[in-house]
Amino acid sequence: MTTRTTQPVQGMSDLGPPEIRIWQEIEQTTRRIMELYGYAEVRTPIAEYTQVFTRSIGDTTDVVQKEMYTFEDRGGRQLSLRPEGTAGVMRYVAGLGPEATGARLYYIGPMFRCERPQAGRRRQFHQLGTEAIGAPNPASDVEAIALQQHLFSQLGLKGLRVEVNTRGLPEDRAAVSRGLASGLQPHRASLCEDCVRRMETNILRVLDCKQPACAEIVKAIPPVTEFMCEESRKYLDEVLRLLRRLEIEVTVNPRLVRGLDYYVHTVWETRHPALGAQDALSGGGRYRIDFGGDAVEGVGFAAGIERLVTALEHDRPGGAPPSGHGPVWIVSHGARALEENMVLAQALRMRGVACGMDLAGRSMKAQMREANKANAGYVLIRGDMEIEKGVVILKDMKDGAQEELDLPEAIEKLVSAGRAEVLKS
Ligand code: HAM
Repeated sequence: MTTRTTQPVQGMSDLGPPEIRIWQEIEQTTRRIMELYGYAEVRTPIAEYTQVFTRSIGDTTDVVQKEMYTFEDRGGRQLSLRPEGTAGVMRYVAGLGPEATGARLYYIGPMFRCERPQAGRRRQFHQLGTEAIGAPNPASDVEAIALQQHLFSQLGLKGLRVEVNTRGLPEDRAAVSRGLASGLQPHRASLCEDCVRRMETNILRVLDCKQPACAEIVKAIPPVTEFMCEESRKYLDEVLRLLRRLEIEVTVNPRLVRGLDYYVHTVWETRHPALGAQDALSGGGRYRIDFGGDAVEGVGFAAGIERLVTALEHDRPGGAPPSGHGPVWIVSHGARALEENMVLAQALRMRGVACGMDLAGRSMKAQMREANKANAGYVLIRGDMEIEKGVVILKDMKDGAQEELDLPEAIEKLVSAGRAEVLKS
């Protein structure tokens, strides 16, 4: 197969201006909110030993079975590109030992899943996620959901639906599987091929099958909580009680299972109406992962940044809030002016004023076009003649007003206009 070399890999995208702005805004808001809740950033490698994922996400999950980019490196080691963030962060936490208890970590970065590309499904996508390390405790689960909702509302998202359920304790799994099997067995012939297979390998996954016939059958069988022990049910009740106390609206969805095996107790997913068939904006829950020593436990969530961008474009038509006025654009006329203006641009930048200028000696008309393209707040015109006189012409692009100022006066004006912008933002 020949592919054009200027194209990125299918299902992966370049990210540049102007779209990058909204990404930067999402990242900045995330960092600010994480600070408020005492989370510190962690950056783990993009590639891990494959078993980091198989041991945590689970051998029989779609992510591990069908979607991982797995390869042998030059030393014959089995590596995989991370399909999600939790496994790598927990591998890191497990390495820290007991001192990691109570750690609150967040990450922002690319993840890789070799899924069939379609709207909302990328092969390289990005997540922002959190993990709070510690033993099961409904209050921690609720705080993680509260953080998520705080972040989404700060970003300006509306119309979200948070669905909550429980996966119960690992000890519940056998009883849940038996209960589901006896409910599903009479309908086996009507289930889709995948679900018939799931009945043997990972019966819980039958609950979130998207095929209409399977969904109908699932609706009629008892909720998973019916097969769980008292402790698991009480845990969910306490989570729901605390969520009400914090006035966080959620819907209990007894069919929500999540596609990763490490979950225990609380699980949740957030849906947004703009996302179409792939409507999960985020997913999270409490987990327990055993890397072969002491198990690590925690709670967290991850949101897909591509999907956040889609949801924000829907909820905030017109894009991100305006980010103040653009840079100062310096327009030169004559060879000497170009050089002097380079010195001026450098001096302005050193004082914190963003500015741009043409370095190729193009016509004044072309330079003004560039200024408009850059959305310049001010245009500063200085040709050889102005240099002789020690002045500049300053044009305020908001109202078109133009004045001749001494150079030091113009610099002070631009520096204080820049400061006022910073104070406004
Ligand atoms: P997840 O539900 O697999 O959970 O992914 C979280 C979010 O990542 C999804 O809700 C979706 O927005 C986004 N996402 C997943 N796959 C794709 C894709 N192919 N293209 C675009 N976006 C995608 C996790 O990854 C867990 N690690 C979350 C977690 C953290 N649980 C506990 N802590």
